[in-house]
Amino acid sequence: MNSTILAIESSCDETSAAIVRNGKICSNIIYTQKIHESFGGVVPELASRAHQLAIVPVVHEAFQQANISKNELNAVAFTQGPGLLGSLVVGSSFAKGMALSLNLPLIGVNHMKAHVLAHFIDDPMPKFPFICLTVSGGHTQLVLVKDYLEMEIIGQTQDDAVGEAFDKVARMLGLGYPGGPPIDKWAKSGDPTKFTFPHTSMPALDYSFSGIKTSVLYFLKDQLKLHPNFIKENLADLCASIQHVLISMLLDKLSLAIQKHNINQVAIAGGVSANFSLRERLKKLAVSNNWQVFIPKFEYCTDNAAMIAMAAHHMFKCQLISNFKLKPMPNLRIELSQNKQ
Ligand code: KG4
Ligand code: ZN
Repeated sequence: MNSTILAIESSCDETSAAIVRNGKICSNIIYTQKIHESFGGVVPELASRAHQLAIVPVVHEAFQQANISKNELNAVAFTQGPGLLGSLVVGSSFAKGMALSLNLPLIGVNHMKAHVLAHFIDDPMPKFPFICLTVSGGHTQLVLVKDYLEMEIIGQTQDDAVGEAFDKVARMLGLGYPGGPPIDKWAKSGDPTKFTFPHTSMPALDYSFSGIKTSVLYFLKDQLKLHPNFIKENLADLCASIQHVLISMLLDKLSLAIQKHNINQVAIAGGVSANFSLRERLKKLAVSNNWQVFIPKFEYCTDNAAMIAMAAHHMFKCQLISNFKLKPMPNLRIELSQNKQ
């Protein structure tokens, strides 16, 4: 069946539109809202307003880059959740309006499933089943991926997401938002063994990242009392040491999941999968353990509509069409089939 689908992503602070034709991405436009930088985190009300301003030009550019007209579409897809309600409402309303006016089917996509399906945009692609560590600003999940649309969470954070830990620690260090990229950059010239922070271990395959945030806070407070320039003089070593423990925590449970499920194909996805040290350490582990590892291209790590388009492509193939009453769901879980409501 031929299919050309417009997909819209607006779950957080990226307004993005992509067009997929028969499983091939023809365009992927991403507008990252800059307004949040000065606030040290995403301000939900500002995010939804910025989506309203950006969505029309972003969608227009997606059609232009793909050299496809709206009359060639077979469906319109959007991110149903999880995400910020006000942001999700902008994308879902736009998609519904467009689908209604063109008399096209509507497809509501799960954002976390889409992060995993970003691995099917380009070769090499994993084979089922595989384990995906999905690490973003809002989630840290170990996902057992059984098929394109069949996924099970086998472990997850019980408090903060790892991206949130990067962002909060970066704020303490005076490195703006988002915090992952500057920590990643500074860590490259630092010593990961210089400072020690607690490695929190949770039962089974779960994670906890709130402890490290608190321990960094108290450590910095104590040091700053003695040396007011402590952060400035030790920034690279601090970034390397904090990043080292966060990534060790991620990789320890990933290794355990792989052993437990006896699966040797492993993928990473989500914003934190752009991290240099995570990518390098995972590649080394893969060589010593004989795993086959899948690491997404940088443009498909952080939020983008190409991954939503790829999920929509597989949903359309199975005729998983959504009702126009489908509501944005800020806490949508990966296991929920959101399509038949
Ligand atoms: O997947 P994403 O774009 O949005 C959510 O769905 O949350 O992930 C954003 C998160 C932020 O916390 C950001 O600091 C983190 O990904 N991030 C990184 C890197 N690039 C982005 N964390 C560590 N290292 C990076 N290079
Ligand atoms: Zn995301």
